[in-house]
Amino acid sequence: MRILVVGSGGREHTLAWKLAQSPNVYEIYCAPGNPGIAEIASCVDIGVDNVAKLIEFSREMKIDLTIVGPEIPLVLGIVDEFRSEKLKIIGPTKHAAQLEGSKSYSKHFMNKYNISTAKFDEVNTFEEGMKVLKKHTYPVVVKADGLAAGKGVFICNSLSEAEASLETIMKDNAFGDAGNKVVIEEFLEGIETSVLCFVDNDSIIPMVSSQDHKRIFDGDKGPNTGGMGTYSPNYVYTKEVEEQVEKEILLPTLKGIKSEGMDYRGIIFIGLMITKEGPRALEYNVRLGDPETQVVLPRLETDLVEIFNAMLENKLSETKIEWNNKAVVCVVLASKGYPDKYEKGKVIEGTNNVDDDILVFHSGTAIKEGKLVTNGGRVLGVTARANDLKEAISKAYSNVEKIKFEGKTFRTDIAKK
Ligand code: AMP
Ligand code: GLY
Repeated sequence: MRILVVGSGGREHTLAWKLAQSPNVYEIYCAPGNPGIAEIASCVDIGVDNVAKLIEFSREMKIDLTIVGPEIPLVLGIVDEFRSEKLKIIGPTKHAAQLEGSKSYSKHFMNKYNISTAKFDEVNTFEEGMKVLKKHTYPVVVKADGLAAGKGVFICNSLSEAEASLETIMKDNAFGDAGNKVVIEEFLEGIETSVLCFVDNDSIIPMVSSQDHKRIFDGDKGPNTGGMGTYSPNYVYTKEVEEQVEKEILLPTLKGIKSEGMDYRGIIFIGLMITKEGPRALEYNVRLGDPETQVVLPRLETDLVEIFNAMLENKLSETKIEWNNKAVVCVVLASKGYPDKYEKGKVIEGTNNVDDDILVFHSGTAIKEGKLVTNGGRVLGVTARANDLKEAISKAYSNVEKIKFEGKTFRTDIAKK
């Protein structure tokens, strides 16, 4: 098969790496890709939101299957457009992508299908927001309704902090139209878990669990980022929690997907908070997580293409999906200043000096004058596999030291809680 991967980050690099292992795949293209992906696939210079060009390319190159990494094209409706051209594609329809595209939509969906989540209010103006915040208990969570690359969520410890966040979203328009509406939410205390699932119209099948580290600094301090590191399996995700999540969150989600007529054949990723009172859904993402994918796919033993093909025919339930027992840790190397302003173009050295079994997935990198340079907030992910978590942590960090660039920033406490 000829496969097209849409995206340019660590998640797409991991997808391409996994797909390249499939005996069913003889050619992989990636739009637009990055220098790491270019080592295993042909990168084509088409932006992820240029759906018309992606369709034209798929037709021309006779692509058999397209897999979309990031949320933006999904929310734009890439799946509907590919399907109407009779091109095979993995992902949610535009309708279903609202589960990620609008926090307000997803909160109403959760309530409608009795999925346990934090209590919330939604507001359309700054003044309305202030009224809610003045009456609220603290901490409180303030969220831009639309897409904000993981940066539109603020955990606020006081009214003044919450006011400043509301101002950023609704007055400074830091996230554009994504901030026209704001969700104000009860703060949930607990341990986070990411559960990525394969889904079709008959079943929802969770992958192995993982945990992301969203804040920029050690000890979960500082602003939220797209994710600074992950590990799998997540120690809080016991058999008991897994069963409870299946019954109280996954199956009701599938019921909602069916009842709303979404025709969803793709990935749904549920962000959970495991609280003392039990698991609560924080959010839906309609795609693979980044950097969750970097630790989950290395544990998948089954051919990913077989899973995707089964999904397209609504036959997921008939597919045996197998995972290995490895512990996997990914440490993200970011540019100094991320998630705020940062500089690009710093020369990266040492990506080829890592140990043989280490995976270095590229996120924000580019080639400039023949050299590998930084080109984004999150630059690289260093992923280690081992028989236990302790060994995986130590392997990941000893290899992090081998990669160098000016301003290299990373958390030193990934998977160490
Ligand atoms: P979201 O995009 O809604 O998942 O929010 C991003 C991150 O903010 C989550 O992964 C959590 O770390 C944090 N967060 C979101 N909502 C809550 C909440 N109600 N209570 C505590 N933390 C939250
Ligand atoms: N790492 C969180 C996300 O992909 O949204």
